[in-house]
Amino acid sequence: MTNKQMTSSETEQTDDQQPNPTPGTDSLADRGTDIGVETSSRDDPATVTDRTIIESRDLDVYYGDDQALNGISMEIPEQQVTALIGPSGCGKSTFLRSINRMNDLIDIARVDGELFFREKNVYDDDVDPVALRRRIGMVFQSPNPFPKSIYDNVAYGLRVQGQDDNLDEKVHTALERAALLDEVEDQLDSSGLDLSGGQQQRLCIARAIAPDPEVILMDEPASALDPVATSKIEDLIEDLAEEYTVIIVTHNMQQAARISDKTAVFLTGGNLVEFDDTTKIFENPESDRVEDYITGKFG
Ligand SMILES: Nc1ncnc2c1ncn2[C@@H]1O[C@H](COP(=O)(O)OP(=O)(O)OP(=O)(O)O)[C@@H](O)[C@H]1O
Ligand SMILES: [Mg+2]
Repeated sequence: MTNKQMTSSETEQTDDQQPNPTPGTDSLADRGTDIGVETSSRDDPATVTDRTIIESRDLDVYYGDDQALNGISMEIPEQQVTALIGPSGCGKSTFLRSINRMNDLIDIARVDGELFFREKNVYDDDVDPVALRRRIGMVFQSPNPFPKSIYDNVAYGLRVQGQDDNLDEKVHTALERAALLDEVEDQLDSSGLDLSGGQQQRLCIARAIAPDPEVILMDEPASALDPVATSKIEDLIEDLAEEYTVIIVTHNMQQAARISDKTAVFLTGGNLVEFDDTTKIFENPESDRVEDYITGKFG
């Protein structure tokens, strides 16, 4: 099956499903960056468009015989924050991972249907999943810096892609965009693991954005953090959406309501029940089941 192409280093990272954002150092050197997808049109970062950047059409995902996603069709707009909410086990992480083909790393996962990134089906045979993940970066629930210096964590993806000209400047810019530079400017050589949890998560965000992806997928990025660190991450996500498309899974309804433009509600059975402007979902949802979920009657 074509979506099972992977490098040996990706295979090694399947245990905790938290691989490097730019896995496969050796293979990266050999692979081109062209995945047959038109590049970004971010001429004016402040412009909010209603252009679709990710579209799923009738997407099903199975783990062995069990179906985790059932006919998901949705169009995710560019340069906005889209929240995915719903009870545990409804398929939010599965959907997120299907966008940059992280489900390829799960042996028993199988994808049917189509998932377009800028009108190119990412499951086409000619799409290189490693190159795809350079354009669609990911941040996970628990911060996972590499056991390297702060500088080397951020520089990692740039180096393996051969984007190491003006490295200092790029590392500083990524740390600044991730709202971490002020706190770590004097200790770039210290280990990333010596930072606090909230700082580590911002370091992981800096690492994810350093290679300048177009989409950032975040799977409950603040759920392991205290309220102050959470609020910093939320501010950061809103800032990032001026330049990037952010798709975030969260169990925190207030967080979804605060930071997202669009909200998708998944419910049991791997069904997308409602997808609309966040204000509509939270103030006047069409579905009674969504209303019950949002008001805490179940889930
Ligand atoms: N690696 C896997 N192998 C087998 N089944 C899996 C795997 N990952 C997820 N599933 C199953 O797929 C379904 C959807 O899981 P998923 O992790 O996408 O849900 P979720 O909405 O992200 O849940 P949570 O809110 O708890 O993170 C569940 O039934 C889960 O058990
Ligand atoms: Mg999940």
